[in-house]
Amino acid sequence: MGKFIVTIDGPAGSGKSTIAKLLAKKDDFVHINSGAVYRALAYVLGENLGIEKLSNLNLELSLKEKSIRVFCDGDDITDRLQSEEIGRVASKIAQIGFVRDYVNKKVRDLAKNGKFVIDGRDCGTVIFPHANVKIFLVANLNERAKRRALETGEKFGDVLRIIKKRDKEDSERDIAPLVKPKEAYEVDTTSKSIEEVYKEVKCIIRRVYDNRNR
Ligand code: C5P
Repeated sequence: MGKFIVTIDGPAGSGKSTIAKLLAKKDDFVHINSGAVYRALAYVLGENLGIEKLSNLNLELSLKEKSIRVFCDGDDITDRLQSEEIGRVASKIAQIGFVRDYVNKKVRDLAKNGKFVIDGRDCGTVIFPHANVKIFLVANLNERAKRRALETGEKFGDVLRIIKKRDKEDSERDIAPLVKPKEAYEVDTTSKSIEEVYKEVKCIIRRVYDNRNR
């Protein structure tokens, strides 16, 4: 079948990973979470990372059960990356050009042949500008903070403050800011259930997929 790429971009807590995981589980997509790579760099190198440290880093992405695992020096660090503090540092280092080049290459190298769903901030604009389907998820800030607080077990107020700052940094940075790709389908997830959003996204993908194979 060659390659079929779906990108899902949007701010923190908009539902990107949840929907991408469902597409992996139910529809046989491989899910690549590009934010996990920024988080891994934040976790291992911190906010003062330099180009030399980055080029000496032994970071590997591998696919397991249709999603990615991140290894550093052979150690699987994937489950240690979820806190809002790591998200905050990730958002800082994501403003650096050589960091973005590093992540883009890692992600592109993985998505070679097959059906992929890739989520992040610039997947449809920069990493895969020729993706088959581009989705842009949005939701209001309170709802997003509520979801993230539930997910990480952190305090709502703290999460709200950090994701508000991350939103600003992610959408105002000079390189690859968070913007809706021109051809993207926007879905507002604020008052929808996961199942409703999944169905809506699936329907969009189905239309494009069927048209392509007609
Ligand atoms: O998606 P997640 O919240 O895990 O991403 C963490 C941070 O990584 C984001 O706030 C953003 O600054 C950065 N990121 C990015 N581009 C991507 C994915 C994530 O700049 N494609």
